[in-house]
Amino acid sequence: EESKKIVLEEPAGAEPAKKIKIHQGVQNRDKRVKVCGWVHRLRSQKGLTFIVLRDGTGYLQCVLSGKLTQTYDALTLTNESTVEIRGVIKSLPEGKTAPDGHELVADWWQCIGKAPGGDESFTNLVAEGADPSILADRRHLVIRGETASAVLKVRSKVLQAFRAEFEHQGLTEVTPPCMVQTQVEGGSTLFSFDYYGQPAYLTQSSQLYLETCLPSLGDVFCIQESFRAEKSHTRRHLSEYTHLEAELAFLSFDELLAHLEELICGTLERVFADPKTKALIEQLNPNFKMPSRPFMRMDYKDAIKYLNDKKILTDSGEEHKVGDDIAEAAERKMTDDLNVPIFLINFPREIKSFYMKRCPADERFTESVDVLMPGVGEIVGGSMRMSDQKQLLEAYKTEGIDPAPYFWYTDQRKYGTSEHGGYGLGVERFLAWLTNRWTVREASLYPRWTGRCTP
Ligand code: 4AD
Repeated sequence: EESKKIVLEEPAGAEPAKKIKIHQGVQNRDKRVKVCGWVHRLRSQKGLTFIVLRDGTGYLQCVLSGKLTQTYDALTLTNESTVEIRGVIKSLPEGKTAPDGHELVADWWQCIGKAPGGDESFTNLVAEGADPSILADRRHLVIRGETASAVLKVRSKVLQAFRAEFEHQGLTEVTPPCMVQTQVEGGSTLFSFDYYGQPAYLTQSSQLYLETCLPSLGDVFCIQESFRAEKSHTRRHLSEYTHLEAELAFLSFDELLAHLEELICGTLERVFADPKTKALIEQLNPNFKMPSRPFMRMDYKDAIKYLNDKKILTDSGEEHKVGDDIAEAAERKMTDDLNVPIFLINFPREIKSFYMKRCPADERFTESVDVLMPGVGEIVGGSMRMSDQKQLLEAYKTEGIDPAPYFWYTDQRKYGTSEHGGYGLGVERFLAWLTNRWTVREASLYPRWTGRCTP
């Protein structure tokens, strides 16, 4: 193989090539450049070889002609091989199309690493319609595709936009630990492990830590992985997901809801202000509708009534009654019917977490909120928190939690309490909604779910 490798000579008198990334193509037209990347698409026609090159920053059509197309490497080139191409980027005449409306007319190129052809070829391995579990094993190849990489690019912008919006609203970012010895959302979904001979867990939520930051830093947020040993095998549950959480002090439930609306809409405005991201979302989700404000507010009891009026039944085929958890299928059905973002508020105590503040008007219910989005259902869970130490101690008891390891959480009430509230947003669920993905798995780089911890 090596003996067949003939390195071409650069054309005599060629100006030195400037190294660029593909997204810098437009401002570097009509100059000699060099670009490195992966062969995304390949086609030969009338003595010309067309390569659509990909470097993660964009796509660039490159044309090889003459003796550039006659080398051994040119004749055996495959998709996903890496190449370096030098030449001049020329805008295309009217009527011809290529990414950014231009193409690189090559005067020199070399193959850096050839990818296999035949049975082992990339195209063969990630063929559309392949078994989902095989594609999950090949996630490292799947992410090279246009759709998967578009979702990951939107994800990057969305995280930036959330951070910018938090900054704008004056919240401080913190990084709580992932290895913990307390639970937040119930013992049944904890992943436990041995920590120097002591039991410990992977965090389910950073909420309790965020609450302790209020007296130190004021309103805070974090973007951190959370872990859930979910038994449910659904298209919106992961074992590890990116959890965006915030906590705010001295505010009312209404103010918490207003903040959530502001965060979601402000973030979306920032995301759409970037033309490249806007184009990616339009490609992934052409029917996306910007939510209008104010979001619909729906009391839990009215949701139960709605479900019964519409004959939407529980998973076991019964009518809903007050006190029931609204299962995923029913929640989805309702959200899809209403087809707008919904603040579902005031859930009953018994189906919600121990720390939630009770409604002053009816102590059987809590000042809690789920944000529901069409196509996905719940993307946010939040609430006001108990601010009274005695009430919290009772809540531990009711839940069967030993208060000892929670001393630091209890102290949040002891050393200068405040009305406060917060929420957690599932980043993959937000993205599944924004980019219209069938499952949250598509919004995660290397998703983990029941039985899957690889690649
Ligand atoms: O409703 P959850 O369980 O709430 C909490 O953990 C609170 N302690 C958060 C807080 O108030 N700081 O989870 C919050 C959100 C859900 O609405 C959902 O979007 C996401 O986290 N989520 C999951 N996403 C993917 N896979 C899972 N298994 C998830 N579990 C929750």
